[in-house]
Amino acid sequence: MKLFSIFYLLIYIYYTYAFSYGKIAVIGPTGKLGREFITELNRNNVKIKILNRHYYNTSNIDSYDIIKYYNTLKNIEIINGDINNQDSLVELLKDCNTCVALHGSNRITKFSDFFTYNYNDLTHPVNVNYRGIKNLIIAANKTNTCRHIIRISGNGENPFSFISIIINFFGSMTKPWNYAGEYLLRNNKYGIDYTIIRPGIMTYDDDKYFSYKLSDNGKKIPVSKISYNSIAKLCFNCISNPNVKNTTLTAMTVKEGYGSLGWSSLLQNVNKDNRFFPHPKNIIIKHYIANGIFIYLSFIFIYKILKYLIFF
Ligand SMILES: NC(=O)c1ccc[n+]([C@@H]2O[C@H](COP(=O)([O-])OP(=O)(O)OC[C@H]3O[C@@H](n4cnc5c(N)ncnc54)[C@H](OP(=O)(O)O)[C@@H]3O)[C@@H](O)[C@H]2O)c1
Repeated sequence: MKLFSIFYLLIYIYYTYAFSYGKIAVIGPTGKLGREFITELNRNNVKIKILNRHYYNTSNIDSYDIIKYYNTLKNIEIINGDINNQDSLVELLKDCNTCVALHGSNRITKFSDFFTYNYNDLTHPVNVNYRGIKNLIIAANKTNTCRHIIRISGNGENPFSFISIIINFFGSMTKPWNYAGEYLLRNNKYGIDYTIIRPGIMTYDDDKYFSYKLSDNGKKIPVSKISYNSIAKLCFNCISNPNVKNTTLTAMTVKEGYGSLGWSSLLQNVNKDNRFFPHPKNIIIKHYIANGIFIYLSFIFIYKILKYLIFF
């Protein structure tokens, strides 16, 4: 028993103090969360490799300027590419142990989506959140070095929740495709470890008067606001903590006193995924049905209002 405790202590000391981060690959470094995460890595002097898609797409001036700034930092190596381009992902991951995937589709629903098949659009969530994850897993396997993917997703398991319906309505059905991407990670046949984080509503606000709550197995916690900075810190903690491998973590804030003030103590108690996660086909169909009902009811509502306005 004593020997076991000493062994556990040595492992703890190793991971706490002697963990070598190596190089960390970051996808989505220009996003709101991505910027906070890069700041966190910089604060800890970690070497970083980032995926940059602003060598071909300079329309987003804000992101373009951020890339120019990253270019001035010595610890950041920039790889041109896109989540849809598998070769660029191999180039990104080839000398990294961990990849933190913070990218997400920010495509707004188009009117044409209701009539046409838009899945060839590379900005669509089906490509960015789902096929992109497939590319990422294959690329990681090709490198033989990158064995851990940390992915920021969202709770896509409740298709009939009002928040999901609204996000899907405006965001090109992003939620079910995020869930489908999660499913690929959970069931990848290459033995690549994953950590899926489902955060609350991320904001720039300070979490000063709140504490953190974490649940494993993707279990639901009432949705709350959580700062980008707190989730960036959680991602950083996940890199060095062996407990988080093959887990799905829901991360929220709760009132002060009801949770923990830091992530490390919460991460010590998380368990690997061991519950049944529904097949994405079932989830995707339900999301589309929920959206169909929403559109139908909205249409009836608008029709009744117009009828009322015209006849009275
Ligand atoms: N915001 C929330 O409350 C919330 C809640 C739950 C989960 N999430 C998830 O958390 C993640 C990050 O959120 P965020 O607010 O930081 O998002 P964001 O600001 O919209 O950033 C998205 C990032 O993804 C990158 N990206 C988009 N398409 C790409 C592609 N084809 N290839 C490579 N990179 C691509 C963007 O790069 P560019 O700069 O080049 O466009 C950007 O860096 C997203 O996956 C989101 O779904 C967000």
